[in-house]
Amino acid sequence: MTQMPGLLDIEAIRKDFPLLDRVVHDGKKIVYLDSAATSQKPRQVLDALNEYYERHNANVHRGVYLVAEEATALYEGARDKVAAFINAPSRDEVIFTKNASESLNLVANMLGWADEPYRVDRETEIAITEMEHHSNIVPWQLLAQRTGAKLKWFGLTDDGRLDLSNIEEVITEKTKIVSFTLVSNLLGTVNPVEAIVRRAQDVGALVLIDASQAAPHMPLDVQALGADFVAFTGHKMCGPTGIGVLWGRQELLEDLPPFLGGGEMIETVSMHSSTYAPAPHKFEAGTPPIAQAVGLGAAVDYLSAIGMDKIAAHEHAITEYAVKRLQEVPDLRIIGPTTAEDRGAAISFVLGDIHPHDVGQVLDEQGIAVRVGHHCARPVCLRYGIPATTRASFYLYSSPADVDALIDGLEHVRNFFG
Ligand code: ALA
Repeated sequence: MTQMPGLLDIEAIRKDFPLLDRVVHDGKKIVYLDSAATSQKPRQVLDALNEYYERHNANVHRGVYLVAEEATALYEGARDKVAAFINAPSRDEVIFTKNASESLNLVANMLGWADEPYRVDRETEIAITEMEHHSNIVPWQLLAQRTGAKLKWFGLTDDGRLDLSNIEEVITEKTKIVSFTLVSNLLGTVNPVEAIVRRAQDVGALVLIDASQAAPHMPLDVQALGADFVAFTGHKMCGPTGIGVLWGRQELLEDLPPFLGGGEMIETVSMHSSTYAPAPHKFEAGTPPIAQAVGLGAAVDYLSAIGMDKIAAHEHAITEYAVKRLQEVPDLRIIGPTTAEDRGAAISFVLGDIHPHDVGQVLDEQGIAVRVGHHCARPVCLRYGIPATTRASFYLYSSPADVDALIDGLEHVRNFFG
């Protein structure tokens, strides 16, 4: 199977990821199929974190001594790397947060406190989709409750895609913000950005794209996407936990108000009022996640050296193989697109009437790590009338042999519950 076109040199790549050598139950080597939840970390990222703490650890933007200046240069250098990675027109458009949830909440709160023309209030509408992660649903529910705005959403088709047939009813002249995921974490669907952005622009609505499941897996060009904001997280793209990104168009970041107040985000403070630093610092109150940003910078270097187009081709080949082989398993139903076309490498399924938690547990006994549950996207489970799914998700270090191990593991599950 390793002759599959598009595959990376998996053996070489796997040497970079120490955890993939972990032996789990009964001497079995781990088969890690949960990269949509969090990716494993290459040695290059672990070394960058260690090196930062061992040689350059200090607070940023404050000290006048050498090590503090090094820490600031490393932190701001990570911003440059991320800006280049997503083709941002300016490094000042890259805000570091703690994760994608915080990035999404930040936009919701900017709009909640904004003046016209951005203000969200009872006369306005917010548009999302039924396939969002909870982190792109709950902030909008909170904003709608607080402001009286109306929350609307796109439904899903039976084959796991967005139903855009009523796009003119979901995105209207009243819509202030349209927020949607580029790739679904449960269904794997890659969404048609252009059609949604075009309609949003026609009515003058802002667009926020949740790229958490896209940034690790495909080239991401914020200018080509045409959105106003793009959110993603570091830990799914070989970086450490505790670091996320919000990219926003510069003029919006200048106009919109900060959410969190504190050190680092101010220009001047008196007991009566304060003025704010320019973006991105206006949105980075307090000591930022310095080591984590440095680790994300190393992750960006690592992914870029391999090439995001090559990573996308690799995952496409693995996904094509996985959806084909999964559909050969008796009683298995994929929840989401059943071909690799416009599809990411997270594949959810149900196996007969065996509960996904049981599937996950028996797979674990064989060393196969998958995620089970509603994957923080419960409305998708409700839509398809299932309590939960088993999800296998693949990344640049995944191999056809991992798919084969999953298929053998599922055979074992079927015999076990036979
Ligand atoms: N959002 C992550 C997932 O889908 C945690 O598993």
